[in-house]
Amino acid sequence: AQDVINGAIRADQPGPVISRHIQGQFAEHLGRDIYDGIWVGPDSAIPNTRGIRRDVVDALRAIKVPVVRWPGGCFADIYNWRDGIGPAAKRPVRKNDWWGGLETNAFGTHEFFDFAEQINTDTYVAINMATATPAVMREWMDYLTSKGDDTLAQERRANGHAAPFKVDFVGIGNEAWGCGGAQTPEYFANEYRKFATFFHKNGSTFHMHNDNSALRVASGPNNDDTKWMEVVLKNAGEQMDAISLHYYTVWHGDWAQRDTAMATGFPAAHWNEILYQASRMEEILRGHEAVMDKMDPKKRIGLFVDEWGTWYRTEPGTEPGHLYQQNTLRDALVAGITLNIFHAHADRVRMANIAQAVNVLQAMLLTDGDKLAKTPTYYTFAMYTPFQDATFIPVNAPAPMLKAESGSFPAFTVSAAKAKDGKTYVAVANADKDKGYKLSLDLGELKGTKVSGQVLTAAKLDAHNTPGQKEEIAPAPFNGGRIGGGKLLLDIPAKSVVVVKIEG
Ligand code: AHR
Repeated sequence: AQDVINGAIRADQPGPVISRHIQGQFAEHLGRDIYDGIWVGPDSAIPNTRGIRRDVVDALRAIKVPVVRWPGGCFADIYNWRDGIGPAAKRPVRKNDWWGGLETNAFGTHEFFDFAEQINTDTYVAINMATATPAVMREWMDYLTSKGDDTLAQERRANGHAAPFKVDFVGIGNEAWGCGGAQTPEYFANEYRKFATFFHKNGSTFHMHNDNSALRVASGPNNDDTKWMEVVLKNAGEQMDAISLHYYTVWHGDWAQRDTAMATGFPAAHWNEILYQASRMEEILRGHEAVMDKMDPKKRIGLFVDEWGTWYRTEPGTEPGHLYQQNTLRDALVAGITLNIFHAHADRVRMANIAQAVNVLQAMLLTDGDKLAKTPTYYTFAMYTPFQDATFIPVNAPAPMLKAESGSFPAFTVSAAKAKDGKTYVAVANADKDKGYKLSLDLGELKGTKVSGQVLTAAKLDAHNTPGQKEEIAPAPFNGGRIGGGKLLLDIPAKSVVVVKIEG
């Protein structure tokens, strides 16, 4: 018999708006994310618009990708933006020192903004802070945003883009504690202040008339490194609009052990450990928020989790540096658990970027030549689109705890919000692989007579989709919901993600 869980949806206590940007993506010049995954070139037999794959654009438009971070990652700090502008045939070919292979620079600034326009998304550009100078950043920013008659704006026009590009966010530094220069927080904070000063953000001191109005994102901590957060906020907080956080789900929480976890064909015991590690996002956020609340009590500075997701052993036979991994029902749960956590922290977490969009780590899409597969993670994101810019509603639904090797975590998490369409949505991520739950949630002041939705589940723990093959896992209509006696009753299957809409 399934456990019955009594709880309540507290529509009388609405919370903050859940920024759509928490469903953001990350696309790096790494493996087959950009090349093959997004860019095939205008002469490719694979259907494309100005070199950008149409199937990928259609799939990403369908999940309303709100923002894309580009060009890295570690790659950003070896990137020279000038390599990626001008006639394609004249662009230099460089070694991709971080991830292997050759960088042709066929995909550069103009191609990225074209891609962003095609999928109708906001843009988040990571500048090179480690191996370039503030002057290089300043020139790129002027090239991107200048409306004037300066030479850089003229150069952009000559390269085919008359209007300034729409730059919404700019990352200053990436993993400055690691691949971005192995810096100390004190050193980074000084460097950041210098870059932020020459960033010339419109409206900042001395720069009332600049054309660049992008928000500045400082390179933030890794995992639970609250010292980094504290030192950087103390010394440079005034000059940032947001600070990033990177947290990956890896075996035993130890990146060095990442190869122990396989994406598919894993033992059943691995299920809980990975989902426990994903659930740790909650405590990681709490730790950083405590520091941020002390240093920035008015919550002016956003916390952008601009890299997160699962990191497993790469698929056998693929180049290890390309970080290509399959993606299963377990990853769909990681996504659901994580998005539910972000919803509950929406007052501070205003952007997140899953790593990465195509063919890398916990990808939305996998490609093989002209074939495309939508991953279970993609489908979680698809089901969660109503939560974009919705108003958070607290839910009280006490879950039993599940045990993993490294700790314990809630069997399921529930999230609710009033969406922009005026309807209330409830999402449940049930991580329990063995057991379903019957949720009986008091609707309180919420009116509703009808409930409908979708469920993502499968018989196999590692159900996944492969390009060119019939789909093994996709959302199906959810028939386990009803409303009666002022309660929402949800019959949630084991190992599933469910999203329902309440109306009527
Ligand atoms: O997402 C892959 C890599 O992980 C990124 O380049 C880097 O920032 C992080 O270490």
